[in-house]
Amino acid sequence: MIKSLKFLISAGPTREHIDPVRFITNASSGKMGLMVAESALNSGHQVKIITGPVKLEYPEKAEVIKTITALEMHTAIMQNFPECDVLVMTAAVCDFRPVKTSINKIHKSDETFILRLERNPDILLSIRRSEKKQTIIGFAAETNDVIVSAKRKLEKKRMDMIVANEVGGKDYGFAVEHIKATLLFRDGEKREIGRCRKKDIAEMIVNEATRIHNKTN
Ligand code: CTP
Repeated sequence: MIKSLKFLISAGPTREHIDPVRFITNASSGKMGLMVAESALNSGHQVKIITGPVKLEYPEKAEVIKTITALEMHTAIMQNFPECDVLVMTAAVCDFRPVKTSINKIHKSDETFILRLERNPDILLSIRRSEKKQTIIGFAAETNDVIVSAKRKLEKKRMDMIVANEVGGKDYGFAVEHIKATLLFRDGEKREIGRCRKKDIAEMIVNEATRIHNKTN
């Protein structure tokens, strides 16, 4: 019998407001997170999704916590992490936010406009595993030096596995059905997957997360 695990999944972009009508964001659709959630539910696991602003319908069986900004997503993940068995960080968290968000709409005055940004917290870096020995899976969306950059992130952020994801191609990457992926593991194993459906990668992630979790607990 399969042991039901508690999956915590972050999904989508974050949105950092400049004023009430303008914001900084990125092209993440949230689809990868949705598919990991569906796959985990299909395998009999419990799912909580911490999502940024997306145009998606999440499965009814999943608990969904809606956030907008990276700071909100950070708080929600820190609150829910201690209870989970597996964290899958598919979210494309904005690295920076405006130093000041204007309460009123900003009107143009000069030919140039300088926007000062400050760093958002790194969510994975601020997490500490509890005695539950959570399994942590992250993503790296890269245009170049894909494997080197992903390996650096895997080690720095103490992940168990990272999905190195090549973006910038026409038929794979953000907001489409396919990704071009390589799985890198903490023990140094490297598994090239190539171009495949997000749905298939989602299934692999759930299977690997379960395998790693059962091995370490
Ligand atoms: N991530 C995070 N908190 C952030 C930014 C990213 O937890 N503030 C997570 C992402 O969800 C992803 C992993 O870290 O699982 C790698 O994210 P990525 O944006 O590829 O890398 P960065 O750490 O932002 O590094 P760089 O700016 O060098 O690309």
